[in-house]
Amino acid sequence: MKNAFIFGWILSLALIFSHCTSDDTLDDLDQIDDVIDDPKPPQNLLDDRALPLATIHPTDNPANNQKIELGRLLFFDPILSGEKDVACATCHHPQFGFADGRDLSIGVGGIGLGPNRVDGTNREIPVVKRNAPTIINTAFNGIEENGEVIPAAAPMFWDNRDISLESQALGPPKSFEEMRGHAFSEAETLDSIVARINALVAYRNRFQQAFGNNNGVTSENIGKAIAAYERTIIANNSAFDRYARGDENALNQQQSRGMARFQQVGCADCHSGPMFSDFELHVLGVPDNNQLDESDSGANGTYAFRTPTLRNLNMTGPYFHSGVAGNLGDVLNFYRRIQGNNNGPGNGPGNLNLNPNVNRNQLDDEIRNLQLNGNDVQDIIAFLGALNDNNFDRTIPSEVPSGLRVGGNID
Ligand code: HEC
Ligand code: HEC
Repeated sequence: MKNAFIFGWILSLALIFSHCTSDDTLDDLDQIDDVIDDPKPPQNLLDDRALPLATIHPTDNPANNQKIELGRLLFFDPILSGEKDVACATCHHPQFGFADGRDLSIGVGGIGLGPNRVDGTNREIPVVKRNAPTIINTAFNGIEENGEVIPAAAPMFWDNRDISLESQALGPPKSFEEMRGHAFSEAETLDSIVARINALVAYRNRFQQAFGNNNGVTSENIGKAIAAYERTIIANNSAFDRYARGDENALNQQQSRGMARFQQVGCADCHSGPMFSDFELHVLGVPDNNQLDESDSGANGTYAFRTPTLRNLNMTGPYFHSGVAGNLGDVLNFYRRIQGNNNGPGNGPGNLNLNPNVNRNQLDDEIRNLQLNGNDVQDIIAFLGALNDNNFDRTIPSEVPSGLRVGGNID
């Protein structure tokens, strides 16, 4: 990725040249000479990483207020779950930064919200096998270093197995342990929930207002409404964003030091672009959560997982796909343990060891090349704090058209 930064810089030089026709004034040519005299990449490559000021809605799912409000109602309505007890918001709740504050989520049959949620089925229904990521800023999933977002290609899940918020939204209702339970088979799921929603006049009217007369309650429109709502859950004004937009005082000294170290030690190799994620898969060898019966081998059994965003970490712990890191110190200690030629216990602080199913030679080179010192840890954590923005839409509907409990069985 460092090469990519440098390449990008060379590319911009090339672009300057390509604009330089015989009509260009001498002034322009002087400027180009200045650049050539000083052929160093800009000092701080993180400078242009502010999130966009507005969300981009895709052309095949343009937003309108009725659609966004319909999406909000569906998101909080347990009508999408087989036994009518779990909503999207059960695991993606505004109070927990649109995640659930748990290592692993509890779906069907669970009672309560966040860390207090407990299984109500004697584990007849297993826990969800991964940590719930936040919905905040998923509108920007896949964003390129230049700020370009292609919503139809936005990668979804810890293993990038789906693309686009529209498509993703139809996944959880089909998942046995997340939302479906025993009510119907996976193949029957979408038809069943469409029939339920279609039976409610309040929903029928809202679909009509959102999508127009010829387009009623369909699974495609359920996905579109939820996606349109999710694209409004954004937090793009962190101290870091203000800094990147030109406010030099937005970061304190420790955060500035941490930002420099974040880049120098190699974090930015993967945590790149405005979301601080390259949205690519990497093998870090994070250990499994011991509540699982079998090892989670990630994307196509390779133990690769997607680089998560580093925004809003103050609301989204515990960390890693398995939720095994309780705090940011645990995450950084894990990196210190696995970088270089270290190998598990005895090398470095902390208590997370390399996953025993992963060989050191499977780890990404960028991990082995990390140069994280104990002295960097507090500064980098301070910098990560500058990526938090608590100002996002937390509106919870007071009721949902099904008349069921808002957010599912959470209180
Ligand atoms: C029982 C808990 C639970 C429920 C209910 C649930 N989710 Fe999730 N959600 C998760 C977990 C866990 C993951 C990560 C799964 C994985 O990566 O394999 C996830 C992933 C996601 C992602 C991907 C985020 C990203 O950055 O890749 C989105 C978007 C999402 N959920 C939206 C929804 C919507 C919309 C609903 C309702 C239709 C919903 N979720 C219901 C737990 C839940
Ligand atoms: C090789 C690419 C790579 C490098 C280099 C890297 N990370 Fe990560 N990071 C990832 C991936 C992939 C995950 C998710 C791993 C998993 O859960 O299995 C992750 C997870 C994290 C998390 C947990 C976030 C969450 O929501 O669960 C934090 C925090 C983090 N990294 C910070 C850093 C810092 C700080 C550095 C530099 C010291 C760094 N990373 C270097 C790829 C990388």
